[in-house]
Amino acid sequence: MLVTLEGIDGTGKSTLLTALRERLADLDPVFTREPGATWVGESVRRAVAEQIDPITEATLFVADHAAHLATVVRPALAKGKLVISDRYSDSRFAYQSITLEGVIPNPEGWLRAMHNGWSIVPDKTFLLVIPVDDALSRLSTKSGREHFEHKEILEKVQNRYLEFARAEPDRFVIVDALLDKDEVARFVAEAIRQMVAHGRKQKRK
Ligand code: TYD
Repeated sequence: MLVTLEGIDGTGKSTLLTALRERLADLDPVFTREPGATWVGESVRRAVAEQIDPITEATLFVADHAAHLATVVRPALAKGKLVISDRYSDSRFAYQSITLEGVIPNPEGWLRAMHNGWSIVPDKTFLLVIPVDDALSRLSTKSGREHFEHKEILEKVQNRYLEFARAEPDRFVIVDALLDKDEVARFVAEAIRQMVAHGRKQKRK
């Protein structure tokens, strides 16, 4: 089973992940992330830091996804593991459809086509949603911002995410990231636990 966590920068995804590691330890999940689950992630980080051209950046994110699937996600799913990924393909569809705006026609269509035929669609995606001003104030304590971490961009990225959630209501679960962090963690952990239990029951049938 593949579960992904998505949301703009500053929603508290990292805090949630730390809590899920503890709360779901008995399920022995494989925790992973994009970018950076393999060495390909290094080139992505460099591309982001150097603000290289947006097509190079986008294709490197896709390359990172391919390496991630090949070396981490597919092998784990083949063993029947629960895989929880901090960011995944929806990050590309949300962020790069904005960074490629005006660079190529129909960025989202181009990005989705690049994933077609080989990528794996998550079983469930938890989308952490927060007012952009709150996200930015959480980020302001960190030194230096990536070029994504600006108000107009994050507004647009979050709107893309929300459109995806409306288009695929069965896959997406929207989580209010302003709630107390323990409450968020309890809710997400419980939802994953129920999915796993339900999945096992289906298999026994
Ligand atoms: P991440 O490592 O999650 O952020 P952090 O700096 O908190 O560790 O992701 C780095 C940035 O890359 C983040 O701003 C989101 C962006 N990103 C994309 O633009 N496209 C993608 O496909 C992915 C996976 C991330």
